[in-house]
Amino acid sequence: MRTILFARKGALLFSLWLTVLSLVAFTAEAEILPGNPELARRIVPQGAVLLRNKADALPLLHGEKIAVFGSGQLAFQPGGHGSAFLSCTPVTAPLDALRREADSGNFQLEQETEKAYRANRNLKVTPEFVKRARSGADTAIIVLSRSSREGRDRSPGLGGWLLTPEEEEMFHSINEARFKKTVVILNTPGSVDTSFLDRFRIDALLLIHMPGMAGGEALADLLTGRAYPSGKLTATWMKTLAAHPSIASLNESTAYVNYYEDIFVGYRWFSTFDPAGEGVRFPFGFGLGYTSFEIGAIEAKHDKSTITVTASVRNTGKRSGREVLQLYFAAPQGKLGRPGAELAAFAKTPELAPDAECKLELSIAIDQMAAYDDTGRSGNPSCWVLEAGDYRLLLGNSLPDAMKRPVLTFRQAELRVVQRLSEKLAPQKLPRRLLADGSYETLRGPRPTVIRPDRAVRIEGEAFCASHPAVRIERFPGGRCLTHMSGPDRRFVEYLLQVEQQGRYSLLLNAANGNRPVPDLMLLSVNGRMQQVKIAVPQSSSGVGGNPWYNFVNLKPITVDLPAGEVRLRFISNGNFVNVDYFLLAPEEGSSAKFVEFTQKKGPVRNRKRRSQLNFVRLELQQQKSGRIDDFLDQFSDEDLVDLLGGGAGRILRGTGSIGVSAAFGIPGADTADGPAGLRLDVPTTWWPNSTLLASCWDTAVAVNFGRAVGREARLNHVDIWLAPGMNIQRTPLCGRNFEYYSEDPLLSGKVAAAVAVGAAGAGISVAYKHFACNNVERNRSNSDSRVSERALREIYLRGFQIALRESPGLFVMSSYNLINGTESAESVELLEDILRGEWEFKGVVITDWKNNSSHSAEIAAGNDVKMPEGNKKELLAALRSGRLDRATILRSARRVVITMLKLRAMQKIADSSSGSPSRK
Ligand code: BGC
Repeated sequence: MRTILFARKGALLFSLWLTVLSLVAFTAEAEILPGNPELARRIVPQGAVLLRNKADALPLLHGEKIAVFGSGQLAFQPGGHGSAFLSCTPVTAPLDALRREADSGNFQLEQETEKAYRANRNLKVTPEFVKRARSGADTAIIVLSRSSREGRDRSPGLGGWLLTPEEEEMFHSINEARFKKTVVILNTPGSVDTSFLDRFRIDALLLIHMPGMAGGEALADLLTGRAYPSGKLTATWMKTLAAHPSIASLNESTAYVNYYEDIFVGYRWFSTFDPAGEGVRFPFGFGLGYTSFEIGAIEAKHDKSTITVTASVRNTGKRSGREVLQLYFAAPQGKLGRPGAELAAFAKTPELAPDAECKLELSIAIDQMAAYDDTGRSGNPSCWVLEAGDYRLLLGNSLPDAMKRPVLTFRQAELRVVQRLSEKLAPQKLPRRLLADGSYETLRGPRPTVIRPDRAVRIEGEAFCASHPAVRIERFPGGRCLTHMSGPDRRFVEYLLQVEQQGRYSLLLNAANGNRPVPDLMLLSVNGRMQQVKIAVPQSSSGVGGNPWYNFVNLKPITVDLPAGEVRLRFISNGNFVNVDYFLLAPEEGSSAKFVEFTQKKGPVRNRKRRSQLNFVRLELQQQKSGRIDDFLDQFSDEDLVDLLGGGAGRILRGTGSIGVSAAFGIPGADTADGPAGLRLDVPTTWWPNSTLLASCWDTAVAVNFGRAVGREARLNHVDIWLAPGMNIQRTPLCGRNFEYYSEDPLLSGKVAAAVAVGAAGAGISVAYKHFACNNVERNRSNSDSRVSERALREIYLRGFQIALRESPGLFVMSSYNLINGTESAESVELLEDILRGEWEFKGVVITDWKNNSSHSAEIAAGNDVKMPEGNKKELLAALRSGRLDRATILRSARRVVITMLKLRAMQKIADSSSGSPSRK
């Protein structure tokens, strides 16, 4: 154990001693919590989805002669790669698990095939090889695996969504060899092309997702019939990728993704535009079992606020199983237009033996059926509204099954506004969005910047509404700037302004130039008319690259005449360009005075003397006293505060760093670890089934147990914050991180995430809901702009987070790498302060995703409290010095960090005292 040096001179001995206890470093030992691998093994069948089972091909019969094909039997994918990958954990591959079954006499495993695959896991099988295998086996089992990773999207091509030529050949040879049965196991992160079902005779198709460390054994459980599958799909599997509503937008640009399909994500699209399911291979909510069920005795009623449906489920087959009831609603089209169906509630039966029956109750709040009117079509802009008409409630064991079983019609006599909000995160550049009648709506153009007659207005370089295609935004330490303007092709950027008062304005550019001075930087036009101005730029830095290049200076202001009303201001390159960070526009009269607030340098950073010895341990003891937190933070110099708002190295080995450490004031901080398939440390920990499998259980009780078990293992390994659940919407089947996410549906995502968080909290661990929001592709994820309507944000992309935070208010939220409608998530005031904190009343801490590329000071200004894995101290202090950020804003985040640390420790103490789990003191 190592002790971190922490005390300042003069600290009281008592608090020194207590502080030492809080700041010891932990060496993690190999800590898999006993019982966790067994629990992981039991979860797999509950989320495994049986997609086809002709003539009860599964489970296999005792003693059945099997030959196993496909590299996946050894090159098995327990999980995806990137931060969710648990490299230290021992994993049993399917072939090894099946070999054990064969050794215990449950199957006969064809040995030549086994030997050949053990010698070469990427074996290319020939028709002759398969024929020989057929002579020793009646059943062919193909394990088809696909990997997936953070930072890269899945390939739509061969070996990605499609089979490789070798796999195709293998399927073909197996088909030709005429096994009595062919069973395909899909060990994939999500959907793959299953057109092989049309080309070859396949009797059973079983999806085990990425099932974690116990996946091999769990597969053996499923094949022998010791366990039965009871999972249901959480996303639509279509026949061809092209049929998916997201695909058209994916290759348009690497710089942005236009969410043209709007709210019609996944099954919402299919239920609206393809209700017969012609393009669908396996629908949302679908999954078979080893038995059959009958839904009966349905009763549906509603009062003023709630709709309640009860139904009985009877096992009509010969084996045990579990069934999921899904309640959907189909809203009236009204003026807004609605999807064909939307998931409202779900419930899963307990295990039902043959002939056994149980009753399930599902209920939803009527307000839950409201739609968000972002443009005022219903007459109520920025409101959640229930339009007048019939809302049909549908019940079934999959979406198509429910479409056939209406159980209640709820009539809304007239339009009712459920909640009034205001415009937030409105798209600036999304050209159009899909409507329920199949037409596209052109959205209002970009919002202009209002130019005031009484003060200077700052316009960021990147806030242009139109540009030459070659123009780019470049990161520099502490900000972003316009670049790639030089070229013979008259490159331009255009800004949309709303000028309140006609007149003469001063325009001041903030720019950096590593080259020789430029006397005539660029031309300027106002509403298409060229202006007689000269913009001169001195050489402000050495030009050798790196930070000196970005030595931004204020250029000499120029004068422009602006008419009142909407104005298009265009900068046109003269072929010679330097970096522009932002520009200021102020009324000419007294304008230099108006610029002062932007340009003046502030005095030195205050270094506070500590008035008393109030350290964190004392604060913890005395926190009931009002004002103590302010007193505590009052002792922090600006530097101390800035330190607090950047992540630290952490005390656990190969964790992902810590949050909220202050050595000077005795805050021990909280250690983080990834997420979401377990705890990524450099010691073996339980590798759990991936998130999609967990959600495929459609059982929040399973998710609570899972969360609790991870939480306990986290406590054992001295982890305080678990960087999970990942809960972005599976907008496209090709997103490289879908395996870390739950579903294409926000209700299911939100409910499962909340349940996981409840479980973890029971063990004293807080989750960090991630990635907030719209990180729906991995390609260029740090610079990709998700252009999406407010309605789709509210109804789809933010909704899961909202549900989770309402049902289990976690202490942390992780912002995402991407931009949303032109603003970095971590820098978005509207996302973090207005929606997350203002509307949803989130009281915890927002952390960034690791090594994002936003500016630390802009993050703090937007309410993103902690930058991970470390802060940008220099930039933050510079922002303080220049007055771009004030101490009060920094204190706002610091306060949240300290309060959250106190809550976390209180939660851990409760968990420790109730469970007797190891405490960290
Ligand atoms: C991922 C996060 C993860 C973090 C820490 C990032 O690359 O996007 O999900 O929690 O790394 O490992």
